[in-house]
Amino acid sequence: MSLRIAVTGRIPSAGIEMLEEAGEVVAWDSLEVPTVEQVHAMVKGADAVLTLLTTKVDDAFLDAAGPQLKVVANVAVGYNNLDVAACARRGVVCTNTPGVLTDATADIAMALILMTTRRLGEGERVIRSQQPWQWGMFYMLGSGIQGNQLGIVGMGDIGQGLARRAKAFGMKIAYSNRRPVAPQLEAELDAQFMSMEELLSTSDVVSLNCPYSAATHHLMSTAEFEMMRDSAFLINTARGPIVDEVALVTALKTGQIAGAGLDVFENEPAVHPGLLECDNAVVIPHLGSATQETRAAMARLAAHNAVNVLAGVEPPTPIPVG
Ligand code: GLV
Repeated sequence: MSLRIAVTGRIPSAGIEMLEEAGEVVAWDSLEVPTVEQVHAMVKGADAVLTLLTTKVDDAFLDAAGPQLKVVANVAVGYNNLDVAACARRGVVCTNTPGVLTDATADIAMALILMTTRRLGEGERVIRSQQPWQWGMFYMLGSGIQGNQLGIVGMGDIGQGLARRAKAFGMKIAYSNRRPVAPQLEAELDAQFMSMEELLSTSDVVSLNCPYSAATHHLMSTAEFEMMRDSAFLINTARGPIVDEVALVTALKTGQIAGAGLDVFENEPAVHPGLLECDNAVVIPHLGSATQETRAAMARLAAHNAVNVLAGVEPPTPIPVG
């Protein structure tokens, strides 16, 4: 009997073609996100499932799929949508797509640094809304980043990619992480390890590049915004709920921080209405990995992971359990 593979969202054809060589593929074929019921109906009897970050994999999903399920291959690097422990208890392997989206996401983080510090969203809004404007010595001045400190929270692949870019722009790099990176890498990036408190109180730009988990829920809230300089900017390209959005709106409105650049939101796709009232917030719709090349590479890697597990081979990028 041929293997059944379900895909819970639209993915590039490169991934689908690889899966079709391994079994019978049922793929969600709409740009709308399927409901929980639709996902559960789709995964019933599947041996492998490719999930998007909008798909929740929990006990109810695993019950709906059935005991034959062997692998959940997330088409994303972040995997807070998967209950990895629940999967492990049932012998289901989980995989993600690290590496292939590092450059695209680090590019977006750097773009947000430039957009916020140089007020690019604000400038675009002036022209698009046909407000009068005139070049002037004092018109819409931003802050230069050269010589300023970028504090990176989470020095994984994307944090390192951002450090390389920011260094090329003349920024000094500080970082906070569960543990310091290897001395050779620290030297290459010219990066200084700091406690979160020191990083927040000394950085001109703070960028969140850590995974989302119970430990990082609301990592940035009122107390942390109070520690930041009033001239500092917050960038989030990781996951929305790392930031307490209510506290962020207050910090932006009261001038506790100078601005924020956000690619992700606490209750995505909803955006806190207060953020839309803040001219000093740049908001973009979760575009971190959104390039043609990157999305195709993510689809291929996720398909490769699933096909390997189905063939009884170690997948390239398994998610560690625990
Ligand atoms: C995107 O947000 C990802 O985690 O891949």
